Amino acid sequence: MAAPLTNASLWKMAAQDLKSDLDLGVEELSRLLELATQVKRTPKRFTSSLKNRYLTLLFEKPSLRTRMTFELAIKQLGGDCIVSNGIIGEREPLKDVARNLDRWTHGIVARVFSQNTIEELARWSSVPVINALSDVYHPCQALADFQTLKERFGRLRGLKLSFVGDGNNVAHSLMLNAGRLGVDFAIATPAGFEPQEEIAALAREYASGSGARMEFTSDPVEAVAGAHAVYTDVWASMGQEKEADERRRQFASHQVNGALMAAAREDAVFMHCLPAKRGQEVTDEVMEHPRSVVFEQAENRLHAQKALLLMLLE
Ligand code: CP
Ligand code: NVA
Repeated sequence: MAAPLTNASLWKMAAQDLKSDLDLGVEELSRLLELATQVKRTPKRFTSSLKNRYLTLLFEKPSLRTRMTFELAIKQLGGDCIVSNGIIGEREPLKDVARNLDRWTHGIVARVFSQNTIEELARWSSVPVINALSDVYHPCQALADFQTLKERFGRLRGLKLSFVGDGNNVAHSLMLNAGRLGVDFAIATPAGFEPQEEIAALAREYASGSGARMEFTSDPVEAVAGAHAVYTDVWASMGQEKEADERRRQFASHQVNGALMAAAREDAVFMHCLPAKRGQEVTDEVMEHPRSVVFEQAENRLHAQKALLLMLLE
């Protein structure tokens, strides 16, 4: 039995929810990454940590990694979950959905079209709400990504992470965390696809606190100069399918290929949250390269989310 953390209160998050990356304080973020490493090294210590805890997983959009890793994380921590697919809040108001789910389960994990859905669920639920991707943030992805970088380079501070492509949910979460963790961050987007100005301003503010550099450009080569990691994501996110053809044209100069990787550091890794569209935002050659860490990122979703669940629920 047991295996609960030696001193759970040391790890407990101050916020009740993970609505966005910002619900984790800077110290908490570092602690979470440390805990994720412990959980990965010694999973057996944690097999009863969520005993008799049940979570609801809600998916308005498709998922492979997020659904599988949350289900597995909860079960491997000794808890259980129920999964529901479909639009939330159509048949009855979100405030009613939230106050049903919190009577039955100890936490809600939700992948949604609109960040407002997360905010509304969290506002009305008495149990933690975790953002499993919205139109604005993908905080669980970023946790796994920084765990992956830390494992690969043995540190975070002083690294440079470069994102090439759409200034989207994944880019937002990465830049907010990079700024707080002292990781230099550069983003190259075609004109009109920059990250949201409010989020970019916050990331800049965090970066000035941690000493990290933040670069915003439209030039991929400029962005990846000196990069330890080059990251990209799909050009059309879920919900933007109708724009996909037009975006293929608009993003054509922002593909991560061998030539772009050659403009980064020699030991630079390639990162992608997946699913990837080979031949669009990334070539098959780069995806399959020995310095591609995309499957390490996918694996770490499991460990990072276990750490998150422990910090919110244990
Ligand atoms: N990266 C990620 O969130 O993958 P899924 O969409 O498959 O969950
Ligand atoms: N930006 C992508 C990420 C998928 C994990 C999307 O929102 O579809």
